[in-house]
Amino acid sequence: MQTLKNSENMRRPRAKKQTRRDIDQAGDEIRAAERDAVLAALEQRVLDLDAPQKALTGRPPEKYALESGIPLDELFPEDARILNIGDPWQKLDLPGVTSIDYESGEEAEFVHDPEAFLGWAPEAFQTLINIFESYQETKDLATKLAQYFDQLKREGIDSFDRVGQNIITLTSELPKENPIRTVGDHSEIMLTVDLWHTMQRLGRGLRDIWLIDTVIEPKIREERVARNLAGKHLSVEEEKRIRDSIIHDNRFVRRMKQADLIKAAFPNVPFDNHSFDRITASWSISTHVFPVMSNIDFRIYWEEIDRLLKKDGICMMWPIYTRSDFGFENISSMSDSLYEYYSSGGDACLVIFDEDGNKSIVWVDQAGFTGAIDDAATLVIFARGTSSETKNRFIEKTLAFNETKASTDDEFSTTASLPDDTDTSN
Ligand SMILES: C[S@@+](CC[C@H](N)C(=O)[O-])C[C@H]1O[C@@H](n2cnc3c(N)ncnc32)[C@H](O)[C@@H]1O
Repeated sequence: MQTLKNSENMRRPRAKKQTRRDIDQAGDEIRAAERDAVLAALEQRVLDLDAPQKALTGRPPEKYALESGIPLDELFPEDARILNIGDPWQKLDLPGVTSIDYESGEEAEFVHDPEAFLGWAPEAFQTLINIFESYQETKDLATKLAQYFDQLKREGIDSFDRVGQNIITLTSELPKENPIRTVGDHSEIMLTVDLWHTMQRLGRGLRDIWLIDTVIEPKIREERVARNLAGKHLSVEEEKRIRDSIIHDNRFVRRMKQADLIKAAFPNVPFDNHSFDRITASWSISTHVFPVMSNIDFRIYWEEIDRLLKKDGICMMWPIYTRSDFGFENISSMSDSLYEYYSSGGDACLVIFDEDGNKSIVWVDQAGFTGAIDDAATLVIFARGTSSETKNRFIEKTLAFNETKASTDDEFSTTASLPDDTDTSN
């Protein structure tokens, strides 16, 4: 990048206009650098605050509509480009969607402690085999699992990756209904979803241990030797970086057929200005980080949203969890920043459900907006300059969309855990 300090530029006399342009450019660079620093700091805040609660998440589009109160064709209009924030299990596989997440579900669940896992695994194998044997329609599963268990014992670590993948694949053969199983002397209720989880955990864990043993540890040893030869040592941070990048390369893998997947933490994202018609964020940016954000943090969020949205673009975020148990420190920092955004040409509203599931809309310039945040399901941000036609259509369709709102009290949806979700091959 060219700067004013470039020595050749400094020597040569410049036309006034050219110098002005250089100064503007330098100013832009400083502003860009400041912006990058601010975004990087905010990204760090996200990583510090957003608990990796991914185990049972992965809502499909229909659930997005039910929980946000916004109809599908407004969330994901035909031919639109959509930025979806947070999809660790790659469930939003729609055309035009680019999902970002700073961590995949599999990275978050990576087994870092082989000893603990290997202490648990034999018992898990045996329990699953017992359960499957006790039921006619799952006897086949019992036989296959017992074979895999034997193979592990016979072949050791070399077979962990293959057997792990086979166990994950086997989950597709689980019966779809929720059976009640009898195990030994105990009568035990084991839902299909629990069986699915135990098998996934077994399969993934075996593959993780294989990765640690055959790729991660050898690489760390190699780096350690190289550093030692150079008279240095491998720091804890460097070791972590090596681990994380190998885990990332093996686990952050795009599996969706239609949607894109990019690793990034909003608002620090690598997209051009005005590239999206919609931004959706379900149980992601609004839940863990909003409650502790300051006015300036919020302003940066709205600015980034406006930068990314095309003209007439709409961003929808839910749920807005301001209840005291989520510790929202200062609701007015959110509403003030939204009002500032409105004053500078943007717009925002809240979608609110009453106890009977009826919807209403409260606009940012209406009295009582701050108080309404407490009861809101969804926050909607309109790009600066959005036409009233677009807003009216959006609101009309949203109010006319009458599906019963699903409960948002439970953070976890079980959709990612259903037994048909078995495509976890790398
Ligand atoms: C609870 S899950 C919800 C996933 C899915 N949208 C759903 O509704 O089931 C939240 C995901 O959002 C991701 N996330 C949270 N804040 C984010 C941010 N600022 N940028 C990117 N991803 C974020 C987390 O890593 C996590 O995987």
